[in-house]
Amino acid sequence: MSSESPLPQPVRNVVVDTASLPASSTASVWDRVSKWVSENKALVYTIAGVAVVVTSAGVVYYLSDSSRPDQPPQPTEKPKKSKSQRRKEKEEKKRAEEKEKAKAAAVQDEKKKAEEAPEELPEVDETTVEQLSEETRKAYAAKLKAAGNKAYGSKDYDTAIELYGKAILCKPDPVFYSNRAACYSVLSEWEKVVEDTTAALSMDSEYVKALNRRATAYEHLEKFSEALLDFTASCIVDGFSNEISRVAVERLLKKVAEKKAKAILETKGKKLPSTTFVSNYLQSFRPKPLPEGLDESVDLSEDSGKGQLRKGMIAMAMKTGDGYEEAAAAFEKALELGDLGEFEALALNLRATFAYLEGNAQAAQADLNKSVEIQPSLVQSYIKRASLHLELGNKDAAVDDFELAISHNKDDADIYYHRAQLRFILGELAEAAKDYQKSIDLDRTFIYSHIQLGVTQYKMGSVASAMATFRRTVKNFEDVPDVYNYYGELLLDQQNFSEAIEKFDKAVEMEKQSKPMGINVLPLINKALALFQWKHDSQEAENLCQKALIIDPECDIAVGTMAQLLLQQGKVSQALKYFERAAELARTESEIINAISYAEATRTQLEVQEKYPQLAARLQSMGAGFGGAPSL
Ligand SMILES: *[C@@H]1O[C@H](CO)[C@@H](O)[C@H](O)[C@H]1NC(C)=O
Ligand SMILES: *[C@@H]1O[C@H](CO)[C@@H](O)[C@H](O)[C@H]1NC(C)=O
Repeated sequence: MSSESPLPQPVRNVVVDTASLPASSTASVWDRVSKWVSENKALVYTIAGVAVVVTSAGVVYYLSDSSRPDQPPQPTEKPKKSKSQRRKEKEEKKRAEEKEKAKAAAVQDEKKKAEEAPEELPEVDETTVEQLSEETRKAYAAKLKAAGNKAYGSKDYDTAIELYGKAILCKPDPVFYSNRAACYSVLSEWEKVVEDTTAALSMDSEYVKALNRRATAYEHLEKFSEALLDFTASCIVDGFSNEISRVAVERLLKKVAEKKAKAILETKGKKLPSTTFVSNYLQSFRPKPLPEGLDESVDLSEDSGKGQLRKGMIAMAMKTGDGYEEAAAAFEKALELGDLGEFEALALNLRATFAYLEGNAQAAQADLNKSVEIQPSLVQSYIKRASLHLELGNKDAAVDDFELAISHNKDDADIYYHRAQLRFILGELAEAAKDYQKSIDLDRTFIYSHIQLGVTQYKMGSVASAMATFRRTVKNFEDVPDVYNYYGELLLDQQNFSEAIEKFDKAVEMEKQSKPMGINVLPLINKALALFQWKHDSQEAENLCQKALIIDPECDIAVGTMAQLLLQQGKVSQALKYFERAAELARTESEIINAISYAEATRTQLEVQEKYPQLAARLQSMGAGFGGAPSL
């Protein structure tokens, strides 16, 4: 299925989330979340790619998710118009336009006449209107409004504005305000549109036309959050039946998210992602000993390039957050100091690795380019550059880099493992399985090839082979927590909850025992999901996420899962905080946009609840109305 998703779209499946997939791990949290939501929702509408989920708690939220081609059918979707219908409508429109023209001409004539002999329109102003009876005012207002509509029809907007204004003087009415706003819209006087529609809405808060008009004006004024709120309210009022508003919600959500993401990116300094993320990425390459020339037999002072390189590699091997920070700084310094001799390509490779992790694709690419130029036999640089290409959506360049790597060292197991990851992400599962197998044949000791082979078999539908692969892998790598974690994910996917939880528990226990204490918190989060799905135990699930966040405070997957758990329970404002945190922790621009989309959808929901309590109530009844539609 991932073959349908354009790169760098993530792989959508909890089991294949595998943060060990360097190229796809970026969006993993949102894949998990989507999958999770699809399992727990009560009702989902799809608004042109934005899933609106109304949960049993009456909570609505949006999932901007273009990577979901397999959406369930849309309960509120109107059937598409047929061709003949469209043609008919077109003809009608044309006729109407002609009629309109004729009318306009007639009005023009009338107007001329009127100028010569003023027509019988009531003359009113603030003072005269006070002397009129209720009855007269009403009659005048109707007359003025009709004249206003006529002027509007003949595109004489200034006159229409004046007439509606007088009608309002006689008798304030939301329709008059909204019509005047329509005139201002045509004239692009957006501030005035906002003013008039706001007046209309203060009289009738569910006036859809006014809501849509104000939203459009806000959008022109680049007040995207306000526009989003209005379009959302409008969607709820008319039961999501208006395609234009539905599309607008999606568009605005994207605009808001992109604008905010840009601001975040501008202020965001260089920063490593969570320790879990860094570790998972680094261990997707087979560990190598310190090269001769950098080992302890050599006396290297810290103020030499080689000394810094050695220092960085030792720090990196500590597998802690501090160690990674230290390593990043040391590699930077190593290259500043220079005089690296035969290790220059390696130093470039390592600095690029941390630049990539910090989300600085440009710098990483420049370093890797230089690294392969200096020392083509260091094929890891090709592999890492391929990951980068993939993340930037350039699949062909990634493929080329693997070819180059193979041409320099066809027996490097890392190449096949990473090419398998690429193929996996592209949905070429049979090819991926072949590459994992080749990687295993070259080096059986690298556990992730086994794990990923099992996951790939599972995705190909060979459940029995997949489970056999995992049983074998558990036997051969019984002291590696990851194997239990991913085994558990497959079991969870099969709803084999008790077995899954047993595996997660085992992985958690082993992480605890390992020295230094393991920082991989995925098993904890997986257990949280399992408990939530199985026992609907949201409290325990929350506790487990909290635990994960104590171990790795910057773990985006824990933060995202927490947000969803809270949202699911209707704790919307708390959920919002976690979504915002997720945006802060996000590494790449698309990841930030994704996180902010969730945050903004949640914020909008909160605002709808606050500003339109009656609408929130209606949504609740909508959820109830669809009678707890079965989980799809
Ligand atoms: C690195 O090399 C690739 C070709 O493989 C090229 O497309 C890219 O622009 C280079 N990047 C930098 C930053 O030099
Ligand atoms: C759950 O998984 C275990 C393997 O760990 C298997 O023996 C058992 O039959 C499975 N149970 C179900 C209900 O599928």
